Amino acid sequence: MQIFQQALARRASFLTADTNAVRLIDGAGDGMHGVYLETFADHWLLSTTAANIPSPIAHWLREQTQSIYHKCLSQHQKESPKHFHGPQIDAPFIARENGMNCEISFHSGYSQGIFLDQRDNRRRVRERSGTDHTILNTFAYTGAFSVSAALAGAQTTTLDLSQPYLDWAKRNFTHNQLDPTQHYFCKGDTFHWLRRFHKQGRKFHGIILDPPTFSRDEKGVVFRVENDYGALAELAYACLQPSGWMLCSTNCHKLHPKDFERQLRGVLPRNVSLEHTNMPADFTDVSYLKSVWVET
Ligand SMILES: C[S@@+](CC[C@H](N)C(=O)[O-])C[C@H]1O[C@@H](n2cnc3c(N)ncnc32)[C@H](O)[C@@H]1O
Repeated sequence: MQIFQQALARRASFLTADTNAVRLIDGAGDGMHGVYLETFADHWLLSTTAANIPSPIAHWLREQTQSIYHKCLSQHQKESPKHFHGPQIDAPFIARENGMNCEISFHSGYSQGIFLDQRDNRRRVRERSGTDHTILNTFAYTGAFSVSAALAGAQTTTLDLSQPYLDWAKRNFTHNQLDPTQHYFCKGDTFHWLRRFHKQGRKFHGIILDPPTFSRDEKGVVFRVENDYGALAELAYACLQPSGWMLCSTNCHKLHPKDFERQLRGVLPRNVSLEHTNMPADFTDVSYLKSVWVET
């Protein structure tokens, strides 16, 4: 069908030998409200806001040769995607982004191993990192920001509440011929670790903050991006080297960029510069991801 082919044709140039993980259809941005299609190494993941795949889309997908999995975005139980069409995928596999290998799994829960909306930020983290740099990646999930920095020669610290995600992050280092034993991995709450690093006088050249919109730590303390981002940024800033940088990012749809900036301005020194950056070009629907680069 023409509308699908047009969406794919618009992204054809994004698929290269170095990058095979791209959003192919982005909802209303491609005239298909509530329908999102991503390719990972030519395996397709369809996400829909409706429980069932709208029939013209289901019909078109059945004509394709790819393995296709489906998940519903509004499900209460956040489950792994379900097989829809084509060969079954039984094991994790590798997708590539700007030359970086990332382990993808369609069987490890609601998220698949990498968030494609952060692609340009990961590239920039790699560009800004160097051999004498120390980089802290908080709320790290599978460590894709850490691997980006480590590929530039930086020494990284990867921090997450979840041990399975930290193990996944270590495998991502290995998939990129990087030795995880030469890097730090910290399990636990970001707020707790930032206070600890500050007490120890440990400083970083670059810090990545990309928290979930809502989180509850092991002690039940709640974090909400709309109210608490400033406090997070303040703690992180205290762990920054002079002339360091921070990436402050959030995918909270409700938070207006101006309110996000206001939270950051409220806690950071006056002389720091803030630069907002855009989402990758394959994301054509609502621009929900806010990314602010803080320079000291
Ligand atoms: C939205 S993902 C972050 C995505 C990641 N920044 C990336 O780009 O790949 C949220 C991650 O934060 C972790 N997390 C949630 N609350 C946390 C906390 N209080 N401290 C540390 N990690 C936390 C989760 O385990 C999950 O891996």
